[in-house]
Amino acid sequence: MKKKFYLETYGCQMNVHDSEKASFALSAAGYEPTSDPVDADLILLNTCMVREKAARKVYARIGEIKNRSLRNIEKDSLPIFGVMGCVAQAEADRLFERSRDIKLVLGTQAIARLPKLMEQLEGGFPRAIDVRLSKEAEFFELDCNVRQTKHIAYITITEGCNKFCSFCIVPFTRGRERSRPADRIVAEATGLGRIGYQEVQLLGQNVNSYGLSGRYHGNLDSLIDEIDERDNGEITFARLLERVATESGVPRIKFTTSYPRDFDEKIVNVIDDHQNLCEWIHLPAQSGSDRVLRAMRRGYSRNDYTEKIAAIKRARKDFAITGDMIVGFPGETEEDFSETMSLIVEVEYDGLYIFKYSPRPRTPAAAYPDSIPEEVKIDRFLRLQELQDHVQKSRYSRYLGRSVEVLVEGKSLRSASDLSGHTRCHKVVNFPGSEDIIGKVVDVKITDAKQHSLYGTLIEE
Ligand code: SAH
Ligand code: F3S
Repeated sequence: MKKKFYLETYGCQMNVHDSEKASFALSAAGYEPTSDPVDADLILLNTCMVREKAARKVYARIGEIKNRSLRNIEKDSLPIFGVMGCVAQAEADRLFERSRDIKLVLGTQAIARLPKLMEQLEGGFPRAIDVRLSKEAEFFELDCNVRQTKHIAYITITEGCNKFCSFCIVPFTRGRERSRPADRIVAEATGLGRIGYQEVQLLGQNVNSYGLSGRYHGNLDSLIDEIDERDNGEITFARLLERVATESGVPRIKFTTSYPRDFDEKIVNVIDDHQNLCEWIHLPAQSGSDRVLRAMRRGYSRNDYTEKIAAIKRARKDFAITGDMIVGFPGETEEDFSETMSLIVEVEYDGLYIFKYSPRPRTPAAAYPDSIPEEVKIDRFLRLQELQDHVQKSRYSRYLGRSVEVLVEGKSLRSASDLSGHTRCHKVVNFPGSEDIIGKVVDVKITDAKQHSLYGTLIEE
């Protein structure tokens, strides 16, 4: 009988995509997936560190699953527990020390070596770990036809990050930034389009610096080579978008995440010029205060940021802009916070993820003085959320009476008679319809705007 694996995923799209890669690697090694941990021989948790106390939650989750497995008397042995993702990379062998159940630790660049590690465990090694990070690490190449997401496919374009914002653990858990060769990205998008995917999302921690890795941390020669190549117009993000747009044949192309310093008007222009590039930009500001932005080491001022926003608003297409904000960064005064509030009003975000600052191991901000008391963080979080709700209401109501293009992704979770999907500008739309249009791109007339979604009726062809 084939061995079974159970995989649980936390966090961002990159983790969802990494889970697809891990599933593929395990299937190729003769394992088959199961949706019930009790049936599994291998239980893998793909973890995230954006939330606080991430490691502790991993131990708690393993405890829960283990208790369920122990109660299952039909099984004679416990499964192997493995941890992958950012917690695996950051905690490494500490995971073994803290939990005797964990036998496998898979770093963020080790997915391709997962079958080898399983072989070691099956061959009698008590534990297996691979948390190597390398500037030269290869990208995992995933076949087009093994995706787990049905209507939207993810494509990795960069991995890692060189920005070292003072609060962020990503450069430590994902390593130095590397760009995947453009030909492979274009080939993957083309393959996905050919088998019917209506939308692809290009993924990276900072997609806008695509092709520029080494600029901040490289040696002089490679730096000069890269600048030359860039001047030849070969490897910028805007150029990559153009290639994917013209060569892949995919009807809708989105990307995330953008980074303000590397984002430029060329990107906006390329999106304007190509119908299949979607008018949605996720451009996290993190704060509206110059003082806090400096302490965060973001590398741009509020004014730099709002100039980029102005470029997006000048576009011919009607863009949606979303972002991330952190409240309660060490030393954030009420005045700093009010600048974040005013930035929200100025930008008019279509959506905003608000985070309460929390220290991450190894990051400089974790040692900053003047930490903000939890009740102040909560208060600022709630005030910002209230303001954003207000802004969002007006942003959403501008779609009333308009016809929007929706990729139908499935049945609505709320109502059995409704379908649900996303617009080109990445808003959720629900509308009544029959299941046979799932997977298609349709036009919907918007009749109602809710806080986080739109409602409408199908425009029949
Ligand atoms: N460029 C990345 C950012 C990764 S972290 C991307 O792909 O989006 C995602 C968001 O988590 C950040 O934009 C930031 O708003 C938030 N975040 C990161 N570290 C944090 C910390 N220490 N405390 C609170 N929020 C944090
Ligand atoms: Fe993190 Fe800043 Fe990079 S938020 S992912 S270090 S751009």
